[in-house]
Amino acid sequence: MKALILSGGKGTRLRPLTYTGAKQLVPVANKPILWYGIEAIVAAGITDIGIIISPETGEEIKLKTGDGKLFGAHITYILQDQPLGLAHAVKIAQPFLGDSPFIMYLGDNLIEDDLKPFFAAFKEQNLDALILLRKVSNPSAFGVAKVDEQGRVLQLVEKPKVPPSNLALVGVYFFSTAIHHAIASIQPSARGELEITDAIQALINFQKPVEALQLRGWWLDTGKKDDLLEANRIILDTSLEIDLQGEIDSNSQIIGRVEIAAGSKIINSTIRGPVIIGKDCHLENCFIGPYTSIADGVKLIETDLEHSVILQYAQVSGVHQRIVDSVVGQRAKLEATVRRPKALRFLIGDDSQVELG
Ligand code: DAU
Repeated sequence: MKALILSGGKGTRLRPLTYTGAKQLVPVANKPILWYGIEAIVAAGITDIGIIISPETGEEIKLKTGDGKLFGAHITYILQDQPLGLAHAVKIAQPFLGDSPFIMYLGDNLIEDDLKPFFAAFKEQNLDALILLRKVSNPSAFGVAKVDEQGRVLQLVEKPKVPPSNLALVGVYFFSTAIHHAIASIQPSARGELEITDAIQALINFQKPVEALQLRGWWLDTGKKDDLLEANRIILDTSLEIDLQGEIDSNSQIIGRVEIAAGSKIINSTIRGPVIIGKDCHLENCFIGPYTSIADGVKLIETDLEHSVILQYAQVSGVHQRIVDSVVGQRAKLEATVRRPKALRFLIGDDSQVELG
């Protein structure tokens, strides 16, 4: 069994964060989204992993993730010149996949469930495809499945205007080599992509065994800001453990589950967990409230913050209003020089969002 993680594509939905970086590297609780997928695959006993990368963000992914040693795996990077679809990615990965069955994992998805029971069901039932489904309130944003009472898949459609059910396709699939034949039989969709949904539909049309199982735990497609904040909240809630390194002065108060990495300084501040703070940060006269992740090298002075994600080397100072539900990009600066500013001056990049309310 091999694994194929899709980490190419354009990532337009998390703009402006992903103009310069890969959306799969955006951190959730200070760890790139992509790494959660790698860890889940390795935990299921699969260590031969191919990662699809794009020319724009591939180098960054390679540099950060490495050859797999970090995870006890072996990673092969596969360059996809253009984001021509999920099935196109499988097609170009054929030399890597050879005649091995494989799990395909979308690099921007996060699931709570352990992959092992699904892997076992795929093997035991000798399936050509096992797909995972989750009930959602907005099925039109996903691939959607119609299944019968026994869980057999009848029909799959990609982002339908009129969805046949509320069961969305989660970005984790198990395939036998039969998928390659199915991909060879399909044409690009109206949006110009070779859709994996169409390839699985082709398997169904060829009367191949295709089954669906529903996820029990949560699933987050971290493509948008609110999804990212929600993923951050859930991971901090479920996996964060107390670990206090760095320097915390005697005027500071650390309450609840808080992780602070080495080299960070906390001065005259209150931190109420769950909160994670990376390496070499400087926090002075701050209140940091629950569900906040602060990446390496961040500087916060006189800042009141909660339920937010602050990326590497960002700086916030002197904003005397509570900042909530916010994502601040790498190296961004947010600074107030007086307590009640008479004027606000911005240099805001394309596609940024500022809400004052
Ligand atoms: O998240 C689940 C959904 O993922 C499913 O419900 C849909 O059926 C499936 O098509 C997919 O839809 P998205 O619109 O969310 O796919 P997206 O374009 O965001 O791509 C998913 C991942 O695959 C992402 O990490 C980028 C990568 N990718 C995408 C394309 C189109 C590639 O590596 N190559 C590509 O050509």
